[in-house]
Formats: sequence, C-alpha cells, structure tokens
Amino acid sequence: MFKKLRQKLFAKSFSKKEKLSDQIYGDVKRELFSDISGIVLEIGPGTGSNFFYYPSGISWVGIEPNVFMNKFLKEKINGRNDIKSEIKIGSAENIDLPDSSVDFIVSTLVLCSVKDVNKVLAEIKRILKPGGKFIFIEHVVAPKKTFLHFFQNILTPFFKITADNCHLNRDILSYIKNNFNEVEYNEFIPKYKLGFLTPHIIGYAKK
Ligand SMILES: C[S@@+](CC[C@H](N)C(=O)[O-])C[C@H]1O[C@@H](n2cnc3c(N)ncnc32)[C@H](O)[C@@H]1O
Repeated sequence: MFKKLRQKLFAKSFSKKEKLSDQIYGDVKRELFSDISGIVLEIGPGTGSNFFYYPSGISWVGIEPNVFMNKFLKEKINGRNDIKSEIKIGSAENIDLPDSSVDFIVSTLVLCSVKDVNKVLAEIKRILKPGGKFIFIEHVVAPKKTFLHFFQNILTPFFKITADNCHLNRDILSYIKNNFNEVEYNEFIPKYKLGFLTPHIIGYAKK
C-alpha cells in the first residue's frame, strides 16, 4: 500500500520536472538520440520525457513498472503520431522480447533504481541486435574519498525510500563496462547543479 502511494507521488512529482529536465538534458539528448532508428526499447520511460527528442518513424516499446506514470506517458505518446508505440507494464529484469530483436535500447536515469543491475544489463544484451546500441544517460557514484562519495553513501537509504529506490552510490559505469565489449562515454557536466545526483555519464555500449 505504501509502495503504491510512494510510486504515485513519485510519478506526479516527476511529471512536474519535465521542463527542468529539458533544460538540463535537452541538448545532449537531441545529439545522443539523433541516430536512433528502427525498433527501440526504452527501459523505465517514466512520464515519457524522452518523446520530445526521438526521431520520426521509429517503433518504440517502453517497459515501465510504475503504472502511475502511464497517464503522463500516454499524453506524450498521443502527441507523436509519427512513432508507433507500445507500453509494457513490467520490469527490465525480465523483458518479454525475443533475442537480438531491437536496434536501440535507451535508459535515462533508470539504472540507479532497478533491483538488479546485472540482470537488467544481461536482458539488454540478449535483446539487442548485433551492432545495435544501448544508449544511456545515468547519474553515478562520485570518486572514492570525496565528500560527495561520503554523503552519497549516507543519503542513499533515504533516497531509496523517497525517490523510488534511487541509489546515489551505484558504480553504474563499472556495471556497464563489465557487461559490454564496447563502451563509449563522456562525463556530462550539467548546466545546473544537481547536488548529490552527480557525476553523470552519457554514452552508448555495444555487445
Ligand atoms: C528517475 S525515473 C526516470 C524516468 C525517465 N527515464 C526519464 O529520464 O525521465 C526512473 C524510472 O525508472 C523506472 N524503473 C524503476 N525500476 C525499474 C525496473 N526494474 N525496470 C524498468 N524501469 C524501472 C521507474 O518507475 C521510473 O519511471
């Protein structure tokens, strides 16, 4: 019961942050998403903020566990008649899609919250076509022995409860590097100060 209430509040608060999200990530998303084509899977699309940046003509499937995101997500989908879309309710740890069936997989600010990062990355690898790209924008743990790292460890239990299982202290880059053969990334320095939600990595991986 409390989980549902937390998910509902999280969906509502996230829907109010789309303008801010565009100011922070808009430019990098436009560039990173510009070569997306074909069949696209997005894990954890949330309120659908990435629909502002997808190119026309793609076939999009989103897998999202929080049903309270659906209302906002459907609004975005309805605003893009040039994209064929399907929402799957579920978790990226178990994705109901065949092996090697998807051209691009997108994850923005999701791997901090999933229950099992390795399981999600194994699913992404299984579903990606050879030569396909896993595109990511994620906030990651700060370097060891910094104040930021120290406070990320202290605050993670609080964020897990209030921000839908968000771990400030996940070494997401190491998880990605351990699971994929080719990883291209940059550290992203947002225009706005995001406090404990820094640093970020943006890039792509291939299997
Ligand atoms: C911080 S929000 C980001 C939403 C969106 N990707 C964006 O960038 O605006 C994290 C999203 O990941 C979803 N999520 C959490 N655990 C998940 C899982 N195991 N599989 C798929 N999505 C998950 C949450 O429900 C939420 O919609």
